[in-house]
Amino acid sequence: MTEPTAGTGIAEDILRYQSRIEQVLDRYLQLPEPGTPRLLEAMRYSVLGGGKRLRPVLVYCTGEALGAPLESLDAAAAAVELIHAYSLIHDDLPAMDDDDLRRGQPTCHKAFDEGTAILAGDALQCLAFEVLAANRAGSMPPAAQLQALRVLAQGIGTAGMAGGQAIDLEAVGHRLDLTQLQDMHRRKTGALLKASVLLGAICAGVTDGPEYAALDHFGAELGLAFQIQDDILDVEGDVTTLGKAVGADAALDKPTYPSLLGLARARALAQEARDTALTSLVLFGERGAALARLAHFVVDRRH
Ligand code: IPE
Ligand code: IPE
Ligand code: MG
Ligand code: MG
Ligand code: MG
Repeated sequence: MTEPTAGTGIAEDILRYQSRIEQVLDRYLQLPEPGTPRLLEAMRYSVLGGGKRLRPVLVYCTGEALGAPLESLDAAAAAVELIHAYSLIHDDLPAMDDDDLRRGQPTCHKAFDEGTAILAGDALQCLAFEVLAANRAGSMPPAAQLQALRVLAQGIGTAGMAGGQAIDLEAVGHRLDLTQLQDMHRRKTGALLKASVLLGAICAGVTDGPEYAALDHFGAELGLAFQIQDDILDVEGDVTTLGKAVGADAALDKPTYPSLLGLARARALAQEARDTALTSLVLFGERGAALARLAHFVVDRRH
């Protein structure tokens, strides 16, 4: 077996999944609860205002590679993007990164207010779990559905995103060594990307065994590569292309790969993590080709 070739066509893959998830998200955000129009407006503002949709793309791409129909992946794809939107709203708050620009628009707390932004994040997190718990597409067995809920919870709790964000806040002004920095990146960003890959697998009926283990490894390494590239773009990116401030990490004295190692070494480690991710796809042969293209995209992207 050989490693799948990267090929071309990543833009087409991504566009196809992106247009699907836009509609799915819009549908899940038609919430007619009386008395909270401002909260709902803030949630819709933050979810429907652009973004690469990489986490849903990972759900769809993994699920399709394993033979699942797209309809059976919609709920999980929506859940991970709802979580991501919540994480961005809170990450941008004055108590965290204090950013004013996100996806080319004022951040949620700027467009609304801090209280509404906190609550919009809270409500999006709840909605993600509600959507996943109510998912009956593809007649998923109850055990797999519970596994999906647990995988998502683990990805964003203390062992994952929230824990990583706590390390990020505590690390400001301190020097982390490479092991600590890698752990922070794996948790704060990598864990949700890994969970997205695993949810795609679970929805496709792959809940354990060698394929599941390979995808777990793929998602973890891809997630690390993604956050290293995010650090790099904060140094050498362009505000218009990125839709968020550049130089924000240095301004806050955040520990990042470029600040610890320099740009060249950071780039080399992003590529190394991507290549490690690619080795996990060998098991899948040509079925893994689209995931391989995504792994290249994660490191080559300019936004
Ligand atoms: C940005 O994520 C925040 C991180 C976790 C590094 P993305 O780069 O995926 O942001 P969008 O969704 O495309 O805006
Ligand atoms: C954000 O990391 C991670 C999460 C939102 C969980 P960053 O703080 O580096 O993301 P950006 O650069 O603001 O998008
Ligand atoms: Mg942050
Ligand atoms: Mg930030
Ligand atoms: Mg960043």
